[in-house]
Amino acid sequence: MKTDTLYLETYGCQMNEYDSDRIQNALGASITKNPKEADIVIVNTCAIREKADQKALSSLGRFKHLKTKNPELIVGVSGCVAQLYGEELIRRMPHLDFVLGPRAIPGLPRLIEEIREKKSRPVETSFDVEEPFDVLPYHEEGKPTAFVSIQQGCNKKCAYCIVPTVRGSEVNRPVEDITAEARYLIAKGVKEITLIGQTVNSWKLERLKFGDLLRVLGELEGLERIRFTTSYPRDITKKMVEAMAEVPKVCRHIHLPVQSGSDKVLRLMNRTYTRSWYVDSVNRLRDAMPDIAVSSDIIVGFPGETEDDFEQTMSLVGEVGFDSSFSFKYSPRPGTVGNELWRSGERVEDHTAGERLSRLQEYQREITRAKNMERVGESEQVLVEEESRNDSSWLSGRTEHNRIVNFPGKKELIGEMVDVEVTEGLANSLRGQYLN
Ligand code: SAH
Ligand code: F3S
Repeated sequence: MKTDTLYLETYGCQMNEYDSDRIQNALGASITKNPKEADIVIVNTCAIREKADQKALSSLGRFKHLKTKNPELIVGVSGCVAQLYGEELIRRMPHLDFVLGPRAIPGLPRLIEEIREKKSRPVETSFDVEEPFDVLPYHEEGKPTAFVSIQQGCNKKCAYCIVPTVRGSEVNRPVEDITAEARYLIAKGVKEITLIGQTVNSWKLERLKFGDLLRVLGELEGLERIRFTTSYPRDITKKMVEAMAEVPKVCRHIHLPVQSGSDKVLRLMNRTYTRSWYVDSVNRLRDAMPDIAVSSDIIVGFPGETEDDFEQTMSLVGEVGFDSSFSFKYSPRPGTVGNELWRSGERVEDHTAGERLSRLQEYQREITRAKNMERVGESEQVLVEEESRNDSSWLSGRTEHNRIVNFPGKKELIGEMVDVEVTEGLANSLRGQYLN
């Protein structure tokens, strides 16, 4: 049987990137960058904010013309928008052949067969999948970094967030499966693994907790670095901090979304911690690992956020001194508690939220730049990942603190751990000189 050619478009977070690689492997398809050459087109979508989900829908619309010209072409939608709108997408888009929820990827080959045999238009969005982690992701030859999913879904109920609705409740993956995937990747030359999960540090199974998992993975021969994302502040335990500090392969970086610096807004968001609790957690991490880099996610303009609440977020950003942060304007999502608040009139005007977002981002840029400038003159260990995007005589990699470093060098160094002296600190990256 001829292998299919797949055109795959991916939006959203690391979990979606991982899922796209699983989709590729599930179909055993070869990838094309040109949809006109494809037998199957899949758009793997993100629903986290309204803009993301509109982008996904309009992207799908682009393939209508192609389908008219080639009725044999199969066009599908996967990911969080698929899960959110399900059946409705099939009704609204006559050129769409299937809808596949994020948990249903292992069933994809069967779905394709069914479409070809029966000309049906299946909607597969059940969470009731026996083996949600079946099907390993495709791994590109020579790429030194990889994601390993250790958890699907989320058991928290943040008032703004659609993830629990579209990805279901938390399912943790068994240790043996995680280590088997890690070993497979190491054999392929992977040096750095990033464990991914919505609240990755709440991973637990039977008697093992996240800290134990770090220790198990820390023993894997051939692996040089372990990262993980995203951590949930309330689930930082003593055991986890100790494991981070004691396992040399664990990178000194934590992505720890705070969302807001105001206790009132944190309560409205149902984040289950206070500002001072968050600051204490960061202090505990820094006591154990003084050089640890801390990054964060922040939402501005959540319903009920006053100017004073926003100022508290600004002051928290200064107090903690995040190495970097991603910030977003609140976007109401269907079926969430935040949406109710927003509809009840508690909303923050769009231009106010936009203005707060710019102020916050400007402040963070200053902090990040200052921190990057402090690195000048230091020597950093960098895992070389790829050629720099705009100049192939330059290489790009990251330090264990997750700082991007660009430096002149030959592509033979990709996959190597090298020492680089930092010569310049920029807004979002460092520049340096190869030392070895
Ligand atoms: N635990 C997840 C969080 C997913 S969403 C993870 O693995 O990263 C990523 C970030 O998007 C959140 O931390 C939050 O800051 C932001 N976000 C989520 N829902 C949002 C919404 N409705 N509007 C604006 N930003 C949102
Ligand atoms: Fe979303 Fe909160 Fe879970 S941000 S993914 S509900 S921890």
